[in-house]
Amino acid sequence: MENNILISPSVLAADFSKLGDEVQSVSEMGADFIHLDIMDGHFVPNLSFGADIVRGIRPYSNLPFDVHLMITNPEIYINSYVDAGANLITVHPESTSHIHSVLQQIKKSGIKAGVALNPGTPIEVLDNIIDVIDLVLVMTVNPGFGGQSFLSSQLAKISKIRSIIDQENYSIDLSVDGGINAKTAALAIDAGANVLVAGTSIFKSKDKTYFEIINRLRNIVP
Ligand code: DX5
Ligand code: ZN
Repeated sequence: MENNILISPSVLAADFSKLGDEVQSVSEMGADFIHLDIMDGHFVPNLSFGADIVRGIRPYSNLPFDVHLMITNPEIYINSYVDAGANLITVHPESTSHIHSVLQQIKKSGIKAGVALNPGTPIEVLDNIIDVIDLVLVMTVNPGFGGQSFLSSQLAKISKIRSIIDQENYSIDLSVDGGINAKTAALAIDAGANVLVAGTSIFKSKDKTYFEIINRLRNIVP
């Protein structure tokens, strides 16, 4: 059955020794975006990779690059990620003194802008930025690492944001990131998410192909 669920594999869980090939594989196996987790060891307690790696893997996929910035002062780096090939950049309100301005900066550069809500971040933060966002990313783990367990406490937040989007008919995607597998995907979709970010459950599967996992996630009926 067709539905509108979009899958964004997080390459944080991919084999970094062949990152280009991994990106190409999931792109050919039904993914809708490529999710790129950028960590600075400051905003979150882990380091991942930067704009040069994003640029390096850009030729391996025609899909939109969904860049999730977990870095302090993202305004300094927006242009580098746009130049490297980002199609959507998502930022955390706590990472900057001027969240509305950063989102405007992203939009002015001609790509989509998203805002990420940590498990401890209330939805009221959306009130004053709803005019400049294309996507809300609800974190269902605390950011910094792949492979953590899904926080079901965030489902109520997803439902509330879905109601706001539908009531006002906003053109905003609702994405969920952290601990997504076949079981938790059903919960997130039921709560109203339409984009699923998944790292470990796709790239670290031992018994299923990327094609099988991506299609299973997309076609889960809650
Ligand atoms: C966590 C990242 C996630 C992470 C998801 O800080 O934002 O995108 O890679 O990984 P899994 O699916 O393993 O929880
Ligand atoms: Zn992420």
